[in-house]
This record gives sequence, C-alpha cells and structure tokens, in this order.
Amino acid sequence: MFVIEHLEPKLFKWCLFEYSHISSFVGRKNLLFTNIKSSVLKKFGRVEQKSVKQFRFDKACILDPEAKQTLTPDIAKKFNYFIFGGILGDDPPKERTKTELTKFLPYPAFNLGRAQMSTDTAVIVTKMIVDGKKLSDIKFQQGVCIPIAKGEEVHLPYKYLLVKGKPLLAPGIAGMLKKQKTF
Ligand SMILES: C[S@@+](CC[C@H](N)C(=O)[O-])C[C@H]1O[C@@H](n2cnc3c(N)ncnc32)[C@H](O)[C@@H]1O
Repeated sequence: MFVIEHLEPKLFKWCLFEYSHISSFVGRKNLLFTNIKSSVLKKFGRVEQKSVKQFRFDKACILDPEAKQTLTPDIAKKFNYFIFGGILGDDPPKERTKTELTKFLPYPAFNLGRAQMSTDTAVIVTKMIVDGKKLSDIKFQQGVCIPIAKGEEVHLPYKYLLVKGKPLLAPGIAGMLKKQKTF
C-alpha cells in the first residue's frame, strides 16, 4: 500500500496531476491519501481526512530524502506500507519530509538517493524497488527543461525517471506550465 500524506495547504492542480499519475502506476486499490478532504481524489485512491499520524500501520516505512539508509529490494520486502509526503518540490529542498513527517512517525525511513524527486517519481521508483529492481539499475535524468514559449523554458531541478530515453513527467504538467502566465 502506498500512502500519500498531503502536506500542501490546498490541492493544487500540480498535486492532482502527480496523484493521478501515481494511481495509474500503482492502481487505486493500493493507494491511500491522508490528511485531505477531497471527493476529487476518490477516483485515484482511498481518501482519509485523518493524518497518517493518527493511524498505526503494521510494517510501514517512510520515504525521506534525508534518511540515512537507501531502500533496496531486500529491505522493501519487509514492509507493507510505504509513506510519502504529498509535498511539491522546492529548491533548495526545505527538508519538509523530515520535519513534517518522519519526526512524528514511529517507522523507519529510507531514501531513494539524496536527490529530490517529485512525489509521483518517488512512488514509481519505490514500486520498481518493491518489484525487485535495484536503485542503481534504474536510469534517471537530473533536471528537466520544458519549453513554454518561443525562447522561453521552465527548468524543473528534480530527478526524473528515464523511460525509453525520455524523462517521465506526470501527464498534464508540461501543458499546465505552457498555459501559466506568471512564475
Ligand atoms: C518533492 S519531494 C519533497 C521534498 C521536499 N523538498 C522536502 O523537503 O522533503 C515529495 C516526496 O517524495 C518523496 N521523495 C522525493 N525524493 C526522495 C528521495 N530522494 N528519497 C526518498 N523519498 C523521496 C518523499 O516522500 C517526499 O516527501
């Protein structure tokens, strides 16, 4: 089960694109959103208004870029619940996963390398590790440039999965950035 503790002040469009992307990879039955009241999200997974801090899960761990130990397929086998921060990227990283999640939960935390990934990328990479792939065998690209108008582009300074040589971005994000007028 993949648990996303929503930690943004609202359900931004950007979050919605990432959450929809996660659901398409792991399946709605394997996805739980906590700390959010939203009927929109119900089509992507189970939704609980309660925070993940109010649940007690058997065999749970947290995915946190600041954790000391890296998740491996052997470690992943020991867990049933994988908890993520529903947090949008920030540069430089504010370590919100550590201060808003890990600090309050009685579960071990693991990293997927130290570079920051989007929540959807982190879930997909965790699913690949759960399915037996080693982090070192997964191909990534650091940073993505999205052309938004002639001579203009937006740089997203995060680590993206490479699929058939192309960085995997949640569907909808590039289009949203192209339409966005101010940054
Ligand atoms: C965009 S990241 C949030 C990073 C944020 N800047 C912070 O300070 O924690 C969203 C979520 O994806 C997961 N994540 C992203 N990169 C990760 C990494 N390298 N290792 C483990 N988890 C990661 C974490 O669960 C994190 O809360």
